Amino acid sequence: LISEAELLSALCQHSKNHPIHDVARGLESYFGGLIDSLALKLRLVSAEMYQALYTPAVVQATARLRALLDARQASLAKEHAKLNERLAIYRDAGSEFQEIASAYARVLKETDHIRQDIARLVIYSAWKRMSVKFEATVTAPVNIAVIKYWGKRDSALILPTNSSLSVTLSQDHLSTRTTIRASPDFAKDRLWLNGVEEDIAASKRLVNSITTARKLRADFEQKLLSDGAPAETVVPLSQWSLHVCSENNFPTAAGLASSASGYAALVSALGALFDLPQSTSDLSRVARVGSGSACRSMFGGFVAWQAGISNDGHDSFAVQVADRLHWPELQALILVASDKKKAISSTAGMQTTVETSELFVERVRSVVPKRMEAMQRAITDRDFATFAEITMRDSNQFHAVCLDTYPPISYMNDISRSIVGLIHAFNAARGRVAAAYTYDAGPNAVIYALKDDMRDLVELFTYCFPRDESTPKEAFYPDAFAIFDSADQVGQRLTRPEVAQLAETAGKFPAGSVCRIIHTEVGDGPRVLAASESLLDDAGLPKHTQQ
Ligand code: DP6
Repeated sequence: LISEAELLSALCQHSKNHPIHDVARGLESYFGGLIDSLALKLRLVSAEMYQALYTPAVVQATARLRALLDARQASLAKEHAKLNERLAIYRDAGSEFQEIASAYARVLKETDHIRQDIARLVIYSAWKRMSVKFEATVTAPVNIAVIKYWGKRDSALILPTNSSLSVTLSQDHLSTRTTIRASPDFAKDRLWLNGVEEDIAASKRLVNSITTARKLRADFEQKLLSDGAPAETVVPLSQWSLHVCSENNFPTAAGLASSASGYAALVSALGALFDLPQSTSDLSRVARVGSGSACRSMFGGFVAWQAGISNDGHDSFAVQVADRLHWPELQALILVASDKKKAISSTAGMQTTVETSELFVERVRSVVPKRMEAMQRAITDRDFATFAEITMRDSNQFHAVCLDTYPPISYMNDISRSIVGLIHAFNAARGRVAAAYTYDAGPNAVIYALKDDMRDLVELFTYCFPRDESTPKEAFYPDAFAIFDSADQVGQRLTRPEVAQLAETAGKFPAGSVCRIIHTEVGDGPRVLAASESLLDDAGLPKHTQQ
């Protein structure tokens, strides 16, 4: 700390001029903060020193001071050693401290970055929310039954009296396209059908199917939340209003099963928009409450609607019997006998049948169950003759049941009946069952045949039912499978002699008796389209309107 000589000289220097307490203070300042506690002790001895300085016993006093300082030095040395020991610990731990310190700095820096990223993310998702549309666009196919559905055991839930079976037709030629958007900005549910706004509330079926799908979404949202999904990731679509826009690529209510493709498209679009986890058969029950036959349009290929027996309808849904690739040779021709709206809706017609027809009771009890089995077998075996015979017999029985209804219902017209005759004559000429007809609740004929027989059938029909001048050639028979070399050949060519003879015997019907012939094939189920295919504009209104 200090050398003895220094201490003494300082002591002497101060003692010459100042009283002893000033010496003590001088010492204190000389040694600075280091000897804080020593200063106290100096003060204690200062009285003695005061006397000693003026006596010859200065040596004694300094000795005593020296003893004090030694003691202090020893204690400081001890303290120093202890501090060193502690310092050594810290020094050894230095690298660890370094590590912790840099990790700490890294964490701080990273936290800061994360904070910035979170801010960016919040802004981004808010922006996304504003610009992303909660929307789905789908197309759904038409189906034509080969075992007819006719009769309900529950009209509210649309539960049928019998099972039925149909063929789904290609969406390339017949389909309904539907866009549905959900938005918190929409004031109420709205629907446009072929550009004309319809009143949703006025249609129990629309309300039923939308409400059912919305309930499924609400249950799904609830499940996601209870499974621990963060609330901001579960969009409350079930609480938002919907804008629905739907367009057919064929005349509505012309007996071309537009309600089937329409409700199948509605429910498929709701399923896609709501991201519903339900299976297609489950969703077919939702389509069913819109229109019975719609449940079958939820699948492609060959589809059965199992009637079910329960009162709540849980066992009344569609299942696929075979997909469209199972029997690719099977094709269909639709002879549109009338574009006009049908007189008695199938809904009203089948109600009267259930109430009045005795033949209907027999059909439901014994005919249909047997036919369902035989038809499924014929499809599995690709046995066209059996398929065709059951198809024609079932169509005939359905229309017979309509005639047995009181008052009778007649959906077929003279043209329809002529086509029945022509098909039987065609099969007779061929010496095998090469074509089948079937009719729904309207006069249009649907002809099923294998691809190889289609050319003769098209030649026969276009010859016997010539185009009306006012109908453009491409609209009358859009030659989708390139049967003719040019549109000018349509109605002019009869390649096979026995078909030519048949055509001559039948003769030509007045032009326009058949206004359009659609040539199509077995098709797939509903398709989800890209956002660019939307029918709604940015404001959520139809892109195409019809005043
Ligand atoms: C003759 O399905 O149109 O086309 O359930 O009342 O809407 P609703 O009836 P809908 O009936 C179709 C009847 C049919 C036969 C069939 O498609 O199976």
